[in-house]
This record gives sequence, structure tokens and C-alpha cells, in this order.
Amino acid sequence: MKFGSRGAIRSVVTLVVCLGGTAGARGQAGTEAKPQMSEEAFKNVQVLRGISVDQFLGTMGFFAASLSLNCTDCHTAESGGSWARYADDTPLKNTARRMVVMVNAINKADFGGERKVTCYTCHRGSQRPEVTPSLAEQYGTPPPEDPDKVEILNGVANQPSAEQILDKYLQALGGAAQVAKLTSFVAKGSYTGFDTDFAKVPVEIYAKAPGLRTTVVHTLAGDNTTVYDGREGWVAAVDKPVPLMPLTGGDLEGARADADLAFPAQIKQEFSNWHGGFPAITINDKPVQVIEGTTAGGSSIKLYFDKDTGLLVRQVRYNNTVIGLTPTHVEYSDYRVVSGVKVPFHWTVTWVDGQSTTDLSTLQANVPIDGARFAKPAPAVPKPASASR
Ligand code: HEC
Ligand code: HEC
Repeated sequence: MKFGSRGAIRSVVTLVVCLGGTAGARGQAGTEAKPQMSEEAFKNVQVLRGISVDQFLGTMGFFAASLSLNCTDCHTAESGGSWARYADDTPLKNTARRMVVMVNAINKADFGGERKVTCYTCHRGSQRPEVTPSLAEQYGTPPPEDPDKVEILNGVANQPSAEQILDKYLQALGGAAQVAKLTSFVAKGSYTGFDTDFAKVPVEIYAKAPGLRTTVVHTLAGDNTTVYDGREGWVAAVDKPVPLMPLTGGDLEGARADADLAFPAQIKQEFSNWHGGFPAITINDKPVQVIEGTTAGGSSIKLYFDKDTGLLVRQVRYNNTVIGLTPTHVEYSDYRVVSGVKVPFHWTVTWVDGQSTTDLSTLQANVPIDGARFAKPAPAVPKPASASR
């Protein structure tokens, strides 16, 4: 198994990017009304035009992740307190614009228009790409593998099938029949994240099978509400540049995946093309088994199960922005039994523009929920005393 070598990991990255390049374009299902475009929502968009606001922000996250920069590094220090100041130009911003054009030209001229080169290909988390190879790197121990990047290279024999791993998961949760009896819940707990400046604030989650989910985070500046109604999704958040942002593409797919995974009885049908055959890997020194499925919009989703307990410990999914795939992962733990079914009470979401942690304190299963909870939310209203960002 050559997975540990750096060469292998590099080729894996390329594979993920090109797979998503062909698959993600179909991820727009469910959005009929044309969402607001970046050039309508923002003042000074010259290159990244014709994309929705959430996809534009996903592209900013891709920039930030590729160069390991904060938003305010490319924008001005003042932009930290005001979305309007994001329109101001800076030398780094102008270079980034040129780079977008350059990358498109490289892919067109040398790779038949396929997205083989992205910002990350050269930058790899640094502002200035390396020019000279490093002997320390060449002869040193390679850094540990990133479990998110695990790929099937040659196919691994004698691995359980995806079907067997999913059966074991349903068994571990309390058995398929018991899991099917969980059809709604209302949960309360606490939330911390970049959007709360890491303050611990109350959160409520309303979920109903099949696939309806609303999360309300009560930040100090006002409520941040995320809704997936079974077809469409929205974020009404005080920390976003627009007060009501429809979810499109991979963001919509992600909201749907989170809603579907809350009621796993139908998990085999909710995603298609399930397959296993991934190499053995560990997360936090525990062996995990990985399977991959395809979302309704055609994107890849990987699920990681604890080999011993059979429980889901991680979900990895991708958003296909115009410039490259951005990964999101959700880590689940602290499973507790509610109405005979194990439910995670703790999870951490990590994406290119932040990280958040949710800890539930109570979860009421199978309670009636007013349908209005899953309707398109009203635009977010900041509390009077607070600044926008
Ligand atoms: C590598 C530099 C870079 C980083 C890092 C970066 N941006 Fe940008 N940002 C740009 C560029 C370039 C544009 C203009 C795009 C264009 O003209 O098409 C822009 C434009 C914007 C705009 C539109 C402003 C307007 O009114 O015209 C917003 C909002 C924005 N960025 C938010 C963010 C956020 C949030 C982050 C952090 C997640 C971020 N940016 C990180 C380079 C960057
Ligand atoms: C083919 C390799 C390559 C790719 C792909 C690439 N860059 Fe660069 N980028 C460079 C090099 C080389 C420099 C440094 C030039 C220098 O030293 O003056 C640079 C510099 C930059 C800088 C200025 C850094 C500074 O400190 O002045 C920004 C910002 C930047 N790139 C953004 C991006 C973005 C955003 C993308 C993706 C759209 C991208 N780059 C893709 C090679 C690349």
C-alpha cells in the first residue's frame, strides 16, 4: 500500500478535483427562481460574475484556504467591520483577479479546459509558491495523511462492502426498525463558531423526516437561521453580506445531506452509487471504514464509520465553486440513546470559511413541529447595538 507516499497523495488531490469538475455542475436541482448574482449583490465584481452569492463566498473561501489568508488580508483592515469596505481594491485583490484569469488560461491551453490547475496547485497554503525543491522534504518523513483526502487508488481486497458497513451502522444505532420510528425531533443546546466570535450561544434544531431541517443560532448580534425545506435552502444570518441568502449548488447539496443524515433509516436510498474499497485509515488513532456515495445533485459524499462501534464519525462533502472544490467536513461524537436510537449530541463543522461546534443538551423525539419552521425564513435583522461584521 503506497498511500503514505507524498506522490500518491498529490495524485489523489488531482483526482478529486477533476471528478467534481464533471459532477458538480448538476448540483443546482431545486432552485427555480434565479438567485441574486454576485455582481448584483456586490459593488466591485470584475471577474467572478454570473455566480450566486453563496457560490461567490465559497470562491472567497477557496482563495483563503489555498493561500492560508484571512478575508481581511486580501481586503482592507476596515473590511473587518463593514461589508461595504470589501469593495475597496488592494494590491493582493488585484493580483488575485489576474490569477483567476491566468488559471483559466492554463487549464484551457494545456488541459483541454479541464480544471487540472487551481490556486491550491501552486500555492499549497502559502502566499508565495515555492520555487526551489526542499531537501528536508525530499528526505524527511512525510506529514500524516489527511483522512479527508483518502481515495481508492488500486481498490483494496477483502474489505466489507458499503452495504455491509451501512447495515452495521443501522444496527449500531439501534436497529433499522427502531431508527425508522424516529421521524422528527426538536433539539436545544449550545453553539460556538467563527460567526459568534467563539462565544457560546443557544441553538435550536428542528428536524423532520424526510429531510427537513432548520437550525437557529441565537448570536449576540441577532439570529442566524439555516433552513432546508426538502427542496430549497436559505441562510438568513446577521453575519452574511446579504440578509437572506438562497443556497445553491454544493451548499444546497450540503444542507440536504445534513437533513438526510439526521434520519438515517433511508440512508441507502438517499444517496446513490455507494461503494467501499478504501484503504484502512485512522481518525484520532481509531480505525475507521470509509464509503462513498453520490448526492442527488451528482457530488461525492464520503462517510467514515468507527470500525469498532460502527457509528458515523465523519462526513466529507464538496462544493464545486467556479475555481475549485471546497471541502466541508462534519465530525460526530457523544452518541446518546433517544427513543431507542443513538443520536450524536456533539458535532463540529469545518469548512473553508470557518468552524463551528454544536453541543446538544436536550433532544425531544417524535414531537409535532409547525410547518412554518421549515418555510423560507425572513431576512436576518441585526440587533440595534451591534456592528455588521
Ligand atoms: C486571495 C485574496 C482574497 C481573499 C483571501 C479573499 N478575497 Fe474577497 N475578493 C477578492 C477579489 C479578487 C475580489 C474581487 C472579485 C472580482 O472582481 O471578481 C473579492 C471580492 C469580495 C467581495 C465583494 C465586495 C464588493 O462589494 O465588490 C466580498 C464580499 C468578499 N470578497 C468577501 C471575502 C470574504 C468573506 C473572504 C474570506 C472568506 C474573502 N473575501 C477572502 C480576493 C480575496
Ligand atoms: C501556476 C502557479 C500559480 C497558480 C495556479 C496561482 N498562483 Fe498565485 N502566485 C503564483 C506565484 C509564482 C506568485 C508569486 C509571484 C511573486 O513572487 O511575485 C503568486 C502570487 C499570488 C498573490 C500575491 C501574493 C503576494 O504576497 O504578493 C496572490 C494574492 C495570488 N497569487 C493569488 C492566487 C489565486 C487567488 C489563485 C487562484 C485563482 C492563484 N494565485 C493561482 C503562482 C500561482
